[in-house]
Amino acid sequence: MLKGDKVGLRARHEDDIPVLRTELYDDVVNSARAEAGPWRPIAPGSKDPRLVVDDEADGRVPFSVVELAGGTLIGTATLWGIDTHNRCAHIGLGLLPSSRGQGYGTDVVAVLCHYGFVVRGLHRLQIETLADNSAMLRSAERNGFVREGVLRSSAWVMGEFLDEVLLGLLAQDWKPASKG
Ligand SMILES: CC(C)(COP(=O)(O)OP(=O)(O)OC[C@H]1O[C@@H](n2cnc3c(N)ncnc32)[C@H](O)[C@@H]1OP(=O)(O)O)[C@@H](O)C(=O)NCCC(=O)NCCS
Repeated sequence: MLKGDKVGLRARHEDDIPVLRTELYDDVVNSARAEAGPWRPIAPGSKDPRLVVDDEADGRVPFSVVELAGGTLIGTATLWGIDTHNRCAHIGLGLLPSSRGQGYGTDVVAVLCHYGFVVRGLHRLQIETLADNSAMLRSAERNGFVREGVLRSSAWVMGEFLDEVLLGLLAQDWKPASKG
């Protein structure tokens, strides 16, 4: 398990799946805001890759996020689009509603940076998020990500086009804060 100050990133467990389905992916607005495609229901037993992990797949490493104290499941985190030639990847995360706004997101980003830069030897990490997602923007910026551009009207979200912000962090600019 990878450890930050408050969170652990571990493998997906079977017991996590119904919680993640109900609390994250059945929430139409949350899913529409967090994912690039349209919301669709995920049937119980589905092998949807957001829930069921192929831990040998190249290019994508999904984690379940737990509270370090107690081990309670609080969300998901993913290093995705791993490009071993250009040594870059994207990060993504989603916390259960009851676990937001308590500093966990900032810590998850720190642990994903440790995984990307130290464990995987990457050179650049990237995040795309909706321009009105203050908590995600702040979680990224607290870890040293800088805004590199605005993708105007790039996301169709629940009836309207929204801007996305692209943030990047280079290994040389990263100042590790977590224990990793
Ligand atoms: C985005 C998300 C991962 C952030 O994690 P979090 O644990 O809620 O964020 P934190 O508690 O670490 O807060 C980070 C910063 O954002 C601020 N913040 C938190 N919630 C906020 C809100 N609703 N509005 C404005 N600012 C907010 C905090 O005050 C903190 O700022 P500070 O560093 O200046 O003190 C989490 O809210 C979430 O899972 N949201 C739904 C899914 C999602 O949007 N995923 C990202 C898709 S790209």
